[in-house]
Amino acid sequence: MTIRTATLNGVATIEIARPEKKNALTLAMYQAMADALRAAVSDAGVRAVLITGQPGMFTSGNDLEDFMQRPPQGMDSPVFQFMQALLDCDKPVVAAVTGVAVGIGTTMLLHCDFVYVSDEARLAMPFVSLGLVPEYASSLVLPQLMGHVRAAEKLMLGEPFTGADAVDCGIANAVLPAGEVVGHARRMAERFNALPPGAVRDAKRLMRAPLKDQLQQVMRTEAEIFGARLRSPEAMEAFQAFFQKRKPDFSKF
Ligand code: COA
Repeated sequence: MTIRTATLNGVATIEIARPEKKNALTLAMYQAMADALRAAVSDAGVRAVLITGQPGMFTSGNDLEDFMQRPPQGMDSPVFQFMQALLDCDKPVVAAVTGVAVGIGTTMLLHCDFVYVSDEARLAMPFVSLGLVPEYASSLVLPQLMGHVRAAEKLMLGEPFTGADAVDCGIANAVLPAGEVVGHARRMAERFNALPPGAVRDAKRLMRAPLKDQLQQVMRTEAEIFGARLRSPEAMEAFQAFFQKRKPDFSKF
């Protein structure tokens, strides 16, 4: 089992659990997370969703083997179903970033409502280093959130950053000691048990509404370029270099 789900005390937990591959996300895992988010929306007993990982790892992002062998085919593919299900989730979503958060491990945080990061976590969006481009509307949201030049460090250079940096640039609420991050995130999620659920949903919808259409449009444009780049020689060199545990050589392009 690589995605564990459980609902306890009004909180639906989605736990990424594939530690042997640093919690890399396969197609089946995206599908399981999409299904769990939709189930949380339709379960009246759920007041908030908690997304978490394993000690030291949130997720190392998309499984790179899948990127090579089973690249996403169109907007119905499991990765886009997950992205859409998170965007459509009208209940509060809390993320406990338990450790390394790469690629979609960071971009999904832009679509959560509360983000708590372990003091051992490292975040990174190395899309360009992989011959790819930003996804999940990060090319829109990040420059808006922190300004172009700081977003360029993260999206064009793929510079890794800490939880404290994530708080500083508006991606996360707080940094916590590694052993406390999940408990704190759960307690924050449980606070919604004492709040009126209809008002919470309406507030979230209002906060997300102004960017909603633009997000969808940008996601589609990113996905077209991302899909083409997945088949590019630059991306193949980057993926092969990762699995061969060597530095990629882009000098020939
Ligand atoms: N896809 C597939 N396999 C992955 C993976 C991924 N995204 N991330 C890690 N793994 C695998 C490694 O291949 C390795 O497998 P092996 O034991 O069979 O050799 C195992 O998980 C452990 O990874 P390793 O790189 O040895 O761990 P680390 O602690 O040294 O580094 C990371 C952790 C996350 C920094 C590093 O694994 C990494 O950079 N992963 C790729 C991240 C990435 O580019 N994601 C895509 C973003 S779009």
